[in-house]
This record gives sequence, structure tokens and C-alpha cells, in this order.
Amino acid sequence: MTALSSEKKQKKWTLIELLNVTADYLAEKDFEDARLNAERLLAHALGMSRIELYTNYDRPLTSDELAGFKALLKRRIAREPLQYIIGETEFFSLPFKVSPAVLIPRPETELLVEQVVTHCRNSHSDEDEIQILEIGTGSGCIAIALAKNIANAVLTAVDVSHEALTIAKGNAQAHEVDVAFHERDALKPWPPEYLNMFDVVVCNPPYVSFSEYESLPPEIKNYEPKVGLLGGNDGLEFFRKFSNILPTLLKPNAYAFFEIGERQAASVRNIYSDTGFSGILIVDDLAGKNRIVKMHWNRSKE
Ligand SMILES: C[S@@+](CC[C@H](N)C(=O)[O-])C[C@H]1O[C@@H](n2cnc3c(N)ncnc32)[C@H](O)[C@@H]1O
Repeated sequence: MTALSSEKKQKKWTLIELLNVTADYLAEKDFEDARLNAERLLAHALGMSRIELYTNYDRPLTSDELAGFKALLKRRIAREPLQYIIGETEFFSLPFKVSPAVLIPRPETELLVEQVVTHCRNSHSDEDEIQILEIGTGSGCIAIALAKNIANAVLTAVDVSHEALTIAKGNAQAHEVDVAFHERDALKPWPPEYLNMFDVVVCNPPYVSFSEYESLPPEIKNYEPKVGLLGGNDGLEFFRKFSNILPTLLKPNAYAFFEIGERQAASVRNIYSDTGFSGILIVDDLAGKNRIVKMHWNRSKE
């Protein structure tokens, strides 16, 4: 970054000067939300809030502070997601620690949580204990947001990634909720203690196709875990393989909720109606895209 490079080495930067020059530089390089990126990086480097940057706008940075900020900025210029650099993001109005071992929670996934919360409040009385299983928990954001918002829920969450579960457990501890986390490949046979156990199964599976994956922005493709994204050749592999397993986990009269890719509703509907699910409902996100599938399992025990 030329303005911060050697010829100006001796310059004492104030917070506002550094903020302005960084925001301009990131905008030139086509970063979306350039100023917000600059603010959050500088706030993180200095251990301040974004507001404090402005209330201390004329404070000069020490050379150590400047070096620390430049190291963070370099990572962002290499297109590392801001959330990984800062190590935190927000989901369902709650803070979550994230690392490259977990997918960064997306705003559209909040709709999945909302759907499950609404379903549980409308379909279960306050005295009911609601057994909920989350498949592919990543940072734990879905299971933890559900535990925070459904008082009578009993949460179990699994992921195939050991590293992801370490992050998820830390997040559950920070939010003081009980979630039973287990390392498990959801596509392999499940032990008896899980069978016919759950009132609700919720899952944001890997659903990106090979061709979509190739065209993802570098922030996602080069940094987020492939296992959290790739759903095989057409993106539907997880849905297909899991369709025979899901009924074995559900109680009679249970519900399952999936997040889906915007063009997958018809295929997912077909896969799961063939398996015996009924009342299959597609819910759109705020952008009007098909995003959630809700479905009913009303068979007796498999
Ligand atoms: C799209 S990410 C969702 C993460 C998190 N629930 C969220 O919504 O932000 C999918 C997650 O599923 C996990 N996963 C992928 N295949 C799996 C499998 N066969 N069994 C269990 N978990 C799996 C990945 O490790 C990843 O954490």
C-alpha cells in the first residue's frame, strides 16, 4: 500500500488519517464496504470500538500499533474474510467466534433459525421437551441460537470436523447454553441412541455445486472450509445421501428443516417426497429466493 510504505515511514499517523487513506485504498481495489472494513480492522488492531476511533480521531498511532494494523490490512488485501481476521461475527444478534475451521455464519441462515423457533413455539406446549438435532453445526451458530430462543429445547449438534466442534463448544460455553456436541459423519450409520429420538432436525448442509464453487469469490474459495460448502457435482449430494438416514432419526410426527441453494427447491422437494415426507413447504428469503425447506415426517416408527 503506497501511502503507508517506506517514503512516509517517519510520518506519525493519526487515527482519522489512517482510516481515510485505508478506506480510499480499499475502495480503489473494489472492496465492498471499504470504510467499514477500514474501521473494523483499525478498531480491532487498537482494541477499540468503532465509535472510539472517532472520539479519538486525532490520536497518533505508536509505531507498534501501526505495524499491527498493517499486518491485519495485508491479510484483508489478500482477500482473507474480515470475520476470520477479527475472529468474530454476529448471527441472530449474538457474537460468535469463528476461525477458518468453520463456515462464517450467513444472514440468510437466520431465516432457518426463525423458522424452527416459530415452529417450536406454535407446535409444542411450554411443558414439552423438544428434542432438536442440528446436522453440520460448524461454529454452532444455529444450535446455540435455538438454545437461546427455545427454553424447552434439548439440543444435540454434530459435525464431521473436529476443529469446527472445538469452536462450537467454545461458543456454547460463552453463551452459557447446553448443547451436546458430537463428532459424527451424518452420512454414516448412526448408533441406536439417536434413532427415532428427535422432534426436529435442522441442517444447513454443504450445497454448492462444483461449477458454482469454481466461480465463488476468493474470500470464500480460498479461505472457507471446502467441507462446509461443496455438495458434489450438482450440489445435491448431501441431500440425496441423507434422505435415507433422516427418517431413522425422527420421532413419528416430526419436522425437518433445511437451508437450500436458491435453485434447489424442486430437486430437494422431489428427493424428500420420494422418501415419504409430506407437507413440504419452501420459504423464501428477504431477497425473494427459495431458501428454506420445511417438511413433515408423519409415519410411524421406521
Ligand atoms: C454449510 S456449513 C454450516 C455450518 C453452520 N451450521 C452454519 O450454518 O453456519 C456445513 C457444515 O456441515 C459439516 N459437514 C459436512 N459434511 C458433513 C457430514 N457428512 N456429516 C456431518 N457434518 C458435515 C461441515 O463441516 C460444515 O461445518
